[in-house]
This record gives sequence, structure tokens and C-alpha cells, in this order.
Amino acid sequence: MANKASDQFILKNNNGIEITFAAHGGRLVSAIVPSAGGEKADVLVGYDTVDEALKGDLFFGALCGRYANRIVGGKFELDGETIQLDVNNGPNHLHGGNEGFNQRIWDVEEINKEGCTSAFRLTLVSPDGDQKYPGELKVNVVYSLNDNNEFKIEYEAETTKSTVINLTSHPYFNLTGDLKQSAADHLLTINANAFTPIDPKVETCNGEVAEVNGTPMDFTTEKPIREAVSSDFDQIKMVDGLDHNFVVNKEGANIARVAVLREPVSGRTLEVFTDQPGLQVYTGNHFDGSEIGKNGVPVQKYCGVALETQIFPNSPNHENYPNAVLRPGEKYKHNCIYRFGF
Ligand code: BGC
Repeated sequence: MANKASDQFILKNNNGIEITFAAHGGRLVSAIVPSAGGEKADVLVGYDTVDEALKGDLFFGALCGRYANRIVGGKFELDGETIQLDVNNGPNHLHGGNEGFNQRIWDVEEINKEGCTSAFRLTLVSPDGDQKYPGELKVNVVYSLNDNNEFKIEYEAETTKSTVINLTSHPYFNLTGDLKQSAADHLLTINANAFTPIDPKVETCNGEVAEVNGTPMDFTTEKPIREAVSSDFDQIKMVDGLDHNFVVNKEGANIARVAVLREPVSGRTLEVFTDQPGLQVYTGNHFDGSEIGKNGVPVQKYCGVALETQIFPNSPNHENYPNAVLRPGEKYKHNCIYRFGF
């Protein structure tokens, strides 16, 4: 039977973690995680009820696609043809268009997965021409949780025509569990020696890759996020915080640890592992308190940190960026692990 938008599902493990998601957008609506002292709290920015979530911010915790992040002008060349997607974010295409995967009702089934305490398969068939992307795309996402406190997201997709793809998940973490506290005080390490700067002319990346060394973008050793977001660095001032793709230090398709977020008071940590070449770090710069989140707390700037594993923004327009093209007969695969510590 088809799911309703508000249908919810819960992953649990034996250490007290409970992650709830909705069929609508596959949205992660809460993640209850103990602190070092054993106090449980919800570490995701979001809403108290699914009904509010369905009316509120479109991306909180959601699966984004077909192309998460931006494509300049929504335009690119594929096999000599110009593809023009919808433009839904200033001059650009963002997170798959107006009716991206975050807006779809996914089919959800509970599955048994070895080594996991809970697992669900989410599936979606995106028809040929959906949001003007070529090819019918069959998408399969597995959410699983195990007793190593690893919440894993495994993405797979296949297409009937050559197309572009970049899937991701969009939770904002606040490891204090208290949304009145700023996530800018979390400590962050990113295993990346380079990032892809934002070109103000196109409002996203233009093919450039820059070293982080000597700039506030250098998170290769742990530091408070606030040190970066309060700096005068032009890349940061331009977007009022972090909203940047980091080029993670990683060879090939192996899974590596790319980031660690740490909140010293609760003792909670979040490690991010992926096989993807990029990590978009977004500090929720556009929130201004007008959105009311969990426990009636207004959602403020820097309320949470999104750590989105993916390829690079605007990759379909730059050959030096990772390949975004998926062809019939190939399988898109992407693994992301969020491992909680406490
Ligand atoms: C992007 C931000 C955008 C946000 C929308 C993030 O992934 O990097 O620029 O405003 O999504 O929720």
C-alpha cells in the first residue's frame, strides 16, 4: 500500500539511539541520542510534528535530488545537447528543482540488514522528464542503524537515458539537543585541504578549486565553527557563514572519515564517513527566527550544521569536477555514515 506523506518510521539500537523519518522526502525528523552523562536529547533541527514539517522548511532532514546543490542557470551540455532545468534559487537550479525528491512521498519497507538493529528501504521512480531531467530514474535508499551507533545512508540509482545525478541528505545537527544554543560553538574538523570557492557572479562554484591553508576555511585541525563564521574572509562574508563544498582528502571510491563535529558540554560527537569526493558544509545562514522549530524555539542563524556528502556544486558544467553523468546500464552508488559518539 502506498505511504501517506505523514507516515513515520523509527530506527532504534540498543544504546538508546532512535531516529525517526517520514515518507515525505524521506525526511529525518528527529534523532534521539544520549549524552556522555546518559541524557537523551534530539539532535536534529526541525519541527515538533510531521504536519508542521510538511508545511515548513522544505529541506530539513530531507533526501535531495536529482541534483542536490546548485547548477548554474539550471543549464548544462550532455552529449552535445543543452539541458535546461528549472531555475528555483535566484539564477540557479537547487536541490533538484521545485518538486525535488524532498517533496516526494517515498515508498518505504522495513528490511533485515545484517549487523543492523533497524533498516528500511526507501524507493522512488522519477519519470523521464521529471523536473526536465532526462531518463526514468529508479532510486533506492537504505537507512540503517547498528550498535556501533552508525546511521548509514546507502543510495543507488539507475537510469533509462544518460542523465546527471547527485543525491544527498540534508539534516542539520545541533549536538547540544537544545535549539536555543548555537551550533557555531560546536568544534569541527574537516579532512579537506581544498574547497571550491563561490563565484559571486554565478552564486555558486565556477570550476575553481582553492587551498584552505592559511584561510578560515582550514578545518584540518579541530576548531570552533564560530572562528570561521565570524571572520572577515570574503568567501564567508559573501554567504554570511559557511555554505561551501570541501574537497575531501581521499583517493578513489573507498569510504573515509571526512568530518568530525564535537560538542564538548554534552560530550556528543558526530563522525561523517563517505565515498563521495565532496562535503557541503552549511551553517543555516539564511535562518532569521521567522521559522518556529521544535519546542516553540525560533530557528536562528547557525542553529545547526548540515554536513552533506556529495559531488561538487555545478559539476555538470566543469570537467575538472567529479563526474555527474549516469548512463543506462551503470549504477549510481553513494554511501554516507553518520556515527554518533557520546
Ligand atoms: C545549500 C544552501 C541552501 C540550503 C537550503 C544547502 O544545501 O548549501 O545554500 O540555502 O541548502 O536549505
